[in-house]
Amino acid sequence: MAGSNGHYPPQQRYAHITGWGMAVPERVVTNKDLEQIVDTNDEWIQSRTGIAQRYIAVDPRETTATLGTRAAMAALEVADFPAAKVDLIICSTSSPEHTFPATASLIQDALGATRAGAFDLSAACSGFVYGISLASSMITAGQAENVLVIGAETLSRLVDWSDRNTCILFGDGAGAVLMQASSVPGGVLSSVLGSDGSGGDLLTVPAGGSRQPATLETVASGQHFIKMDGRAVFRFATRVMTEATREVLEKANLGADELDLVIPHQANIRIIKSSMRQFNLPEEKVFVNLQNYGNTSTASIPIALCEAIAEDRLKPNDNLVMVGFGAGLTWAATAIKWAVPDAREVPVWRAGQRSATYGLARMRSRFLRFSRRVEGSLVTDEGDAWGEVVSKRIESWRNVREE
Ligand code: UT7
Repeated sequence: MAGSNGHYPPQQRYAHITGWGMAVPERVVTNKDLEQIVDTNDEWIQSRTGIAQRYIAVDPRETTATLGTRAAMAALEVADFPAAKVDLIICSTSSPEHTFPATASLIQDALGATRAGAFDLSAACSGFVYGISLASSMITAGQAENVLVIGAETLSRLVDWSDRNTCILFGDGAGAVLMQASSVPGGVLSSVLGSDGSGGDLLTVPAGGSRQPATLETVASGQHFIKMDGRAVFRFATRVMTEATREVLEKANLGADELDLVIPHQANIRIIKSSMRQFNLPEEKVFVNLQNYGNTSTASIPIALCEAIAEDRLKPNDNLVMVGFGAGLTWAATAIKWAVPDAREVPVWRAGQRSATYGLARMRSRFLRFSRRVEGSLVTDEGDAWGEVVSKRIESWRNVREE
């Protein structure tokens, strides 16, 4: 039972996914399209990876933050939950908008999530599952009630479009879930997180960070593009996907025969098949949609989750495992008992209310940017009466929080 403050005591707290959403750019790039730019062919790509097409953010206005925001809005809509009541936003990404500020903060601003803390999580393709594990721990420990976990990428901006080893693999997109505290048993049962940094050089963007800051030379030699030893990553991936799945099932006290659905990171159909072979799962229990999206890195698992739900592949009390691997090297798995609350009656006016709230969030953000400029030009270090009045006005606006 929730206490008078609406919080559940720790021993009765469970972390459930209550909303989900995804977003992809408009432009579809097929394998045939890629034949025009690198020495490859549809047959090779399909047989070696399973990928037939991917979505690419060709419009420069479409970014990791805009995709992440759209996915988060969709997740909030499913849960019928206002952005202003979100406590924390975790954005997993390897293609952040900037080194800083965090992409999560830009999404927080766009949503008008004025009560939320926000940070980015860097664990490459495993990052979304890291985020689920973290959000679940915060919720069960009583540190948070409503957490948005987002996986968002525009890796097409980091891909060397003349390198056929990598450019055929990746796609852009975002997926998000809202995780909420509940007294209903289930939700996240167990998690496994792993890393082996000795394999960091197998999949990396060498330049542009503090180790090798961007220079004319690093740019000319393409060091700010993705470099990958595909075969080594392949071997690592098949091993850790199997091990992490086995471990997370053990931690959750579940046998492989009790599994209802596995959502693996959508990198390569051969990796998925070979890593899942040991569990003797029928094909319909392993969700695959990489043929349509390519490898969207950390967004691949939440996008697949959205499609699995849309295809009715998850039912109440089903046991779900999500498992991923990626640069770092990293890996992560989580076992979930799917127990989403019954669909609520959402009043018809809610969509209008929601878009008005997002419109207000945009206005608020513009006003705060503008006011900072005004404040900067009017308020002197010594302070004066007029400056104080302006500062106080601005501060009162800053504290306006939508209910
Ligand atoms: O989220 C994590 C991201 N990374 C991954 O998941 C990568 C994991 N690795 C893989 O998925 C696979 O290793 C690849 C799909 C990247 C490559 O498949 P592969 O079966 O391991 O191919 P390979 O690198 O062993 O190359 C086989 C042949 C080579 O030709 P030769 O030396 O045998 O004549 C390559 O040059 O295929 C050639 N090749 C291509 N041919 C046509 C490599 N890329 C291409 C291409 N089109 N795009």
